[in-house]
Amino acid sequence: MATIIGLVGSPRDGNTKALVVAALSEAEAAGLTTELVHLGRMSIAPCKACDRCQKEDRCVEEDDFQKVAAKLDGAQGVVIGSPVYFGGVSAQLKAFMDRTRYIRRKELLKDVVGGAIAVGAARNGGQETTIQQIHNFFFIQGMIVVSDEATLHYGGTGCAKKKGEVERDKEGLETSRNLGRHVASVVKKLSG
Ligand SMILES: Cc1cc2nc3c(=O)[nH]c(=O)nc-3n(C[C@H](O)[C@H](O)[C@H](O)COP(=O)(O)O)c2cc1C
Repeated sequence: MATIIGLVGSPRDGNTKALVVAALSEAEAAGLTTELVHLGRMSIAPCKACDRCQKEDRCVEEDDFQKVAAKLDGAQGVVIGSPVYFGGVSAQLKAFMDRTRYIRRKELLKDVVGGAIAVGAARNGGQETTIQQIHNFFFIQGMIVVSDEATLHYGGTGCAKKKGEVERDKEGLETSRNLGRHVASVVKKLSG
């Protein structure tokens, strides 16, 4: 059965996680299996540019990156959520992205379906630029990028500051659910 992996880029058990869970529940409702990975709470060091991944088919740094990479292996869809930090993704998520160079070289994520979610404290706080950064990652990995199914806008866009506040953010929840449905429907179409 097709699997969708949800990556949470926040170090908090907070708003980003709630929206990624909302997206994954729609994929579950569509009959797919899902798994949530709280990347932002894991220990993933930044890329040191040692370039060994250009010869060896892995990142040689031994930390939690290896656990996340193993989860992505064989996934048909990936939902990535990040809090907005200064208009972009969290450092934890960026560290993970930079470590995936060998994944790109090996084209391990090519044609996997990707959807993005961002939560910022301000309504216009950089949700779109953060989502765009995640979309760039998807594009550069050769993935199939999908939008919010209903509005065809960027993806899940949340507006919340304190932990848990997003539960009252109707738009954030709705756009994240729409995104989860779209990821699931494209995965299903691709798996015939
Ligand atoms: C280091 C840092 C930078 C932030 N920068 C922004 C920002 O540029 N725009 C914004 O709207 N919110 C910003 N915020 C607020 C968070 O995006 C917001 O609180 C969000 O709900 C956090 O998600 P979480 O609960 O999943 O951690 C920032 C928060 C932190 C800790």
